[in-house]
Parts: sequence; structure tokens; C-alpha cells
Amino acid sequence: MLTLPVYLDYNATTPCDPRVVDTMLPFFTRQFGNAASSTHAYGWQAAEAVQIAREQVATLIQAEPGEIFFTSGATESDNLAIKGVFSMYAGKGNHIITVATEHKAVIDTCRHLEKMGANITYLPVNREGLIDLQELEASIRHDTILIAIMYANNETGVIQPIKQIGAIAKKHNVIFFTDATQAAGKISIDVQRDDIDLLALSAHKFYGPKGCGAIYVRRKGPRVKLRPLIDGGGHEKGIRSGTLNVPGIVGLGKAASLADAEMLPYTERIQKLRDHLETALLQTGKVILNGSPAHRIPNTTNLSFRNTNSGVLMRIFSKDFAVSSGSACTSALMEPSYVLKAMGLSDELAYGSIRFSLGRFTTEEEIAYVIEKLKNI
Ligand SMILES: Cc1ncc(COP(=O)(O)O)c(C=O)c1O
Repeated sequence: MLTLPVYLDYNATTPCDPRVVDTMLPFFTRQFGNAASSTHAYGWQAAEAVQIAREQVATLIQAEPGEIFFTSGATESDNLAIKGVFSMYAGKGNHIITVATEHKAVIDTCRHLEKMGANITYLPVNREGLIDLQELEASIRHDTILIAIMYANNETGVIQPIKQIGAIAKKHNVIFFTDATQAAGKISIDVQRDDIDLLALSAHKFYGPKGCGAIYVRRKGPRVKLRPLIDGGGHEKGIRSGTLNVPGIVGLGKAASLADAEMLPYTERIQKLRDHLETALLQTGKVILNGSPAHRIPNTTNLSFRNTNSGVLMRIFSKDFAVSSGSACTSALMEPSYVLKAMGLSDELAYGSIRFSLGRFTTEEEIAYVIEKLKNI
């Protein structure tokens, strides 16, 4: 039995995996302790659960547990990384390099810092959504303190050349931050291999709870320091004060360990389904693919329907399937996606774009249903 509308908006958010919920439940009731209560067993139990989650998140990205700090999600982690570096390294410079297609949590943070005296370079992307590495290297200056480039784009799924970016940043002694919100749990991430210094991720993008995320902060080679956004009791080694969201953190940890353990079969299955959907729609001859076909996360396809307004299309099919145009945060606004515009798409093609993002619970039957609905459009 199909549940309608078919959910194909996993890049906006994912349902919690029931195994994640089961792991979280005791921490709302029996094991409700404050992880900072060091004087009794309730606190010790909570602190132990948080430590296990820290190890699980660290394993997902090949970091050390001591390099993981819990936040309320990727928006906060993005803000903390960028504002934290800007404030901490003011003595070295005020130049930040980022990309025109970043998520609003990065773009708007940079815009905010511009008002505080930061100098920001917004690198362009090519038609496939990729940056030019030579242009990146040429834009580094003596006062560059941060390179902030996302791992995978939320609208197109395009993966930037992270390893090469990390090498360039290291060569020039510049901190490299990557917003890995759409990559974490979907593809293998290795902060050592790729010389990543700071990384943001969010639980609700990989079957964990909403309102819980993490930031990875490199501890050695180089040791990266951040000025906190929130002052208070000094939780999370002073990087992020505030009583820890223990159930959320436990859920994030469990979600990370499931994603890690099931990554290979997930990738194979999801990519097959995504490619099937994509090929069927491309075969109509009325659709074009946005973003590099070769450098993409396995669950995402962004397609432009010629001579069509995607808002109208989504309303017509709102009982059949749930997808989005542009990012979820801006899909209510009738303006073409700035990500697709930055890739050089015409207004017409940008207005006609739809993002299909598949996930762990997507079935062959669901994909067949969506193809059937769309192929005669
Ligand atoms: C690339 C990217 N960065 C940041 C965010 C914000 O994440 P959160 O919802 O955890 O604040 C999102 C969510 O859409 C995203 O896709």
C-alpha cells in the first residue's frame, strides 16, 4: 500500500528512524538526568550517554570524540564556525572565502559579518555547480582567515572537490570549514583524509531528531579555536553553553551509527532508484538535469521542466507526491532559486525546477508511481 503523497523531500528533513526513537525514549523519562550533574547517578548516566553519542558522531566523520561539540543543528553550527573564527582570528585578518551557492545559514552569516567589517569573496560556480580550484587558490590573500565551502549542495546534491579544497587551505595555512549537512550519513566523510578543520552536521537530515546537530573542531595540526556564540555555564568545553539536549544527542548518536553501518547498501539502493526516476523523466525530452551528474550525493536529482512553473506543478500533484523547488526555507517565496541562477540557468528553467530527494524509506513502488504521474506532463 502506498502512503500518499509520496515523500521525496528527504533533503528538507527525514522521519526519525524507529530505532533512533527507541534509543531516545528512556532519556525523556527514567534517565532524565542533567549531563552536567556530576554529584549523582542520574547525571553520570546522562553524561555517559552523551559520551557514547560523541563517539558515534566522531566515528561517522573519522574524528576524535573530543573534537565533537553538540549544537541545536546545522544553522547554529554554521554560525558558530564562521562567526567563531571571524572573532577569534581578527588579529590575523578579516577575509573569508565562500561560494555563491552555499545554504542561507552560511550566506546570511557572511552577509552579517560584512556589516561587522568582514571582507567576503563569494566564488562563482560553473554550469555543473562546481567551483574552480584555481580561482579558489588565486582568491586567497595574506589576510584570509577562513574558507567556508559546503560539502554537498542541498538543492542539487552537487559535491564540491573537498579533498582538493582541504589541500589548498592547508598549503596556505587557512582554516577550512565545510557545511556537511547534506553529505553526513549519505556518503563517507573523513576529516583527516580531506584536511577539514571545521564541519557542521544536523541529525534530522539522517533520520535523527530535529533541533540537534554538531560541530567538529580540529584539535591538532592545526588546533582550531572558536569564540563561542553563547556564554553561560561553560558546557561543551565552553564552546556551547546550555544544558545538553540529552535525548536529542542520544538520537543523533544512534542515527550516526546506523548511517555509518548501513551506508553501502543505502548508497547502492538509493542511487539505483534515483537514477531510475531521473532517466525516466529525462527520456520525456521535456526535462533537463541541473548539476554535475558525476559529482552528486546518491539521493538527489534536480530537474527543470521546460515551459513549466514548478510551483504550479507541485500544487497540481500535491496529493501525489511531496517535493520542493529551491530550498525548503525559500520555497514559499516566488523567486527563482539563487543556487540555480548562480549556475547560469535562465529564469525560465530556474522557475521550472524541482528537487527530488529520496531516502531510506523510499520504495520502488513509490518511484514507479511518481514516474507514472509525471511522464505525460
Ligand atoms: C546545506 C545545509 N546547511 C544548513 C542547513 C540548516 O540545518 P538545520 O535545519 O539543522 O538548522 C540545511 C538544512 O536545510 C542544509 O541543507
